[in-house]
Amino acid sequence: MKATSYPQGQSEDFAFTQENLRRAETVIARYPKDRKSSALIALLDLAQRQNGGWLSVPAIEYVANYLEIAPIRAHEVASFYSMFNDQPVGKYFIQVCRTTPCWLRGSDGITEACKKKLGVGLRQVSEDGLFSVIEVECLGACANAPMVQINDDYYEDLTPERMAEIIDALREGGEVPVGSQTGRLSSAPEGGPQTLLEVADAKPGEGA
Ligand code: FES
Repeated sequence: MKATSYPQGQSEDFAFTQENLRRAETVIARYPKDRKSSALIALLDLAQRQNGGWLSVPAIEYVANYLEIAPIRAHEVASFYSMFNDQPVGKYFIQVCRTTPCWLRGSDGITEACKKKLGVGLRQVSEDGLFSVIEVECLGACANAPMVQINDDYYEDLTPERMAEIIDALREGGEVPVGSQTGRLSSAPEGGPQTLLEVADAKPGEGA
């Protein structure tokens, strides 16, 4: 199928790498032969990862071609799901959860800390190309609010100060522990677990 016209600045030369071609075939093999379009979301995700975290029009239409479906079907899916980005993002793509539990626990301050630290607005890429920030709806870690997702990892129990430290550490190429930033075990209460303490201490085969 012939691709549609491309916006300025988006070249036509997107193609899966050999490694991603193998991955694409593995995904497609999970579906009946006449249903390979079911692999669309997985292949768009593959294309986005290969394309630096966003889906250009050529990348979307390459996937459509690959699955032998009309380009509009791939565009519909790519533009519907918020996990697909339609413009370039930073190497570290920060998604700040702003839904009620995170908002009540200070997500506005987290967003402001990111914008101030990076000197960017929402959806803008920092000058060094390393960071971009957006706000998103609930990411399912409400018990550890406020939290952000950076690329594939969650950073939870944040404060504006801790958020700024994380940005500094990532900028310098340092390691930042994922999960709770206060050392909470999963979503246990602040100060540590309050119940089932004997069970937690029990050795395998012991206990009630
Ligand atoms: S509201 Fe932020 S993770 Fe659910």
